[in-house]
Amino acid sequence: MYRSHSCGELRASHINTEVTLAGWVQKSRDKGFMVWVDLRDRYGITQLIFDEARTPTAMMDKAKSLGREFVIQVTGTVIERESKNAKMATGNVEVLVSKLEILNQALTPPFTIEDTTDGGEDIRMKYRYLDIRRNPVKDSLIFRHKVSMEVRKYLSDQEFIEVETPYLIKSTPEGARDFVVPSRMNEGQFYALPQSPQTFKQLLMVGGMDKYFQIVKCFRDEDLRADRQPEFTQIDCEMAFVEQEDILNIFEGLTRHLLKEINGVEIAEFPRMLYDDAMKMYGNDKPDIRFGMEFGELNTVAQHKEFGVFNKAELVVGIAVPGGNAYTRKEIDKLIDWVRRPQVGALGMVYCRVNDDGTFKSSVDKFYDQEDLAKWAVETNAKPGDLICVLSGETNKVRAQLSALRMELAERLGLRDPKVFAPLWVIDFPLLELDEETGHYHAMHHPFTSPKPGQLELLDTNPGAVKANAYDLVLNGNEIGGGSIRIHDKQIQATMLRHLGFSEEDARAQFGFLMDAFEYGAPPHGGLAFGLDRLVAILGGQETIRDFIAFPKNNSGRDVMIDAPAFLDTAQLTELGLK
Ligand code: AMO
Repeated sequence: MYRSHSCGELRASHINTEVTLAGWVQKSRDKGFMVWVDLRDRYGITQLIFDEARTPTAMMDKAKSLGREFVIQVTGTVIERESKNAKMATGNVEVLVSKLEILNQALTPPFTIEDTTDGGEDIRMKYRYLDIRRNPVKDSLIFRHKVSMEVRKYLSDQEFIEVETPYLIKSTPEGARDFVVPSRMNEGQFYALPQSPQTFKQLLMVGGMDKYFQIVKCFRDEDLRADRQPEFTQIDCEMAFVEQEDILNIFEGLTRHLLKEINGVEIAEFPRMLYDDAMKMYGNDKPDIRFGMEFGELNTVAQHKEFGVFNKAELVVGIAVPGGNAYTRKEIDKLIDWVRRPQVGALGMVYCRVNDDGTFKSSVDKFYDQEDLAKWAVETNAKPGDLICVLSGETNKVRAQLSALRMELAERLGLRDPKVFAPLWVIDFPLLELDEETGHYHAMHHPFTSPKPGQLELLDTNPGAVKANAYDLVLNGNEIGGGSIRIHDKQIQATMLRHLGFSEEDARAQFGFLMDAFEYGAPPHGGLAFGLDRLVAILGGQETIRDFIAFPKNNSGRDVMIDAPAFLDTAQLTELGLK
């Protein structure tokens, strides 16, 4: 038996018991005649004491030789601590050691393994196993486990069956590039790793599984961001004989359950917002509705004067920054620089102060009088003391720019409180999206999403206007899930693929298996997938998913710990038919 108790377990009630503990030396303090060691394991820290008066000299010397992160086993008696530490769960006691065994030595770790560390991101990633010993990382992984368990419990209770689907498949178009795996037995051919199990879960519905879920790895070769990893985990779900309303209800239920069980937060019905309204009011399909600052469109109240910039813009749009009139000229200039950064891309920003007495002072007073500016205030819902920030230009671009500014200002104003949860369904997404570069339409969700009833004909005349039975679940400005009602008719699927630019042969080659299945009694079906990493991060009050993944990749998609990806040797390449 390596241990009788964990390092987080001992309390005053254990005083005078003999215990055996095992763990890592977090740190030791050597006062000459006494040595204290903080012994750590996953469950906590227990203080050990070696004392010249009570400890044999040989063991005293051994205790003095212990370095940080040595793995040791000790036996001793629990005694009352002289100076108690109320901040520690085990702070009332210490263990007077009678037996000390060094199970393994350790090199001095490259960064301190404590809650706050001196280690930078790169070094911590290289030695991730050491980072995992730190509470913040360890706790995040435990938190993730709790969320996964609650998800499984909830869905299983609702009669969902977890089914595993294969990883060695062929392309599933979710809008990213595929990671591919060469096949040795089929020279020159490749598997693709799933961007999602989309087609398989639809086939499970044809197979009569009725309610499926899977906590599953997905692989997407796309540019990384704080909320994106090349391999990530979805809670993937599908249901047969359902309409959009059924799906929204079930997964709203799951999300509500998680918020309650994990965060102790009870939320009534989730609001729903049309995609078009989200874009108009927030410039974004995943609005953070924890705070206001909704967009006010100003074309009608700003394009009647001689200000050329506004007059030639497709959209003039503003937001009111609460209390923003307190900003100095210098601070406003900095904001203007901020929106002009290439990452945001605005050409400039017009602003208007709303003074406490209700008068206005704008950067374009030459063109607009008090009466005009009062109308801006009405449109943007600006109050005395606010600052109205106005951008103009091409609709899509300017909305994205103002949305970025809105989020930045909210962050600065402390309006994005991670303890407040504001879920939102965004519904009625467009079916197709125009790729500005190629001039072609592609599926906004994926090619298996069904258009809204009666809108199929519009595909020929006005494809951009077709709306889909597609929805996203947004939490605090993050897309945590998305799904749709699927096409379950072969002809409609063929029509859809044709509109997406697939030739008949290509459609057959890539999706023939699915369309064939539709001919053998495919039930109406639909579903959604949550991004588990994102969901966990947000429930945990953060937005960077890396912290909730045991072994994440860095921004260049590398695992710096195992040093992957790596070159293959010639023999292996030859065997795979790649050389
Ligand atoms: P979608 O592509 O919207 O839908 O993905 C579902 C959810 O997965 C998360 N997600 C990611 N998380 C981390 N890193 C990434 N690279 C990444 N990409 C996506 C997001 C997203 O909302 N098959 C469909 C679902 C369906 O229609 O049922 C799908 O994959 O939180």
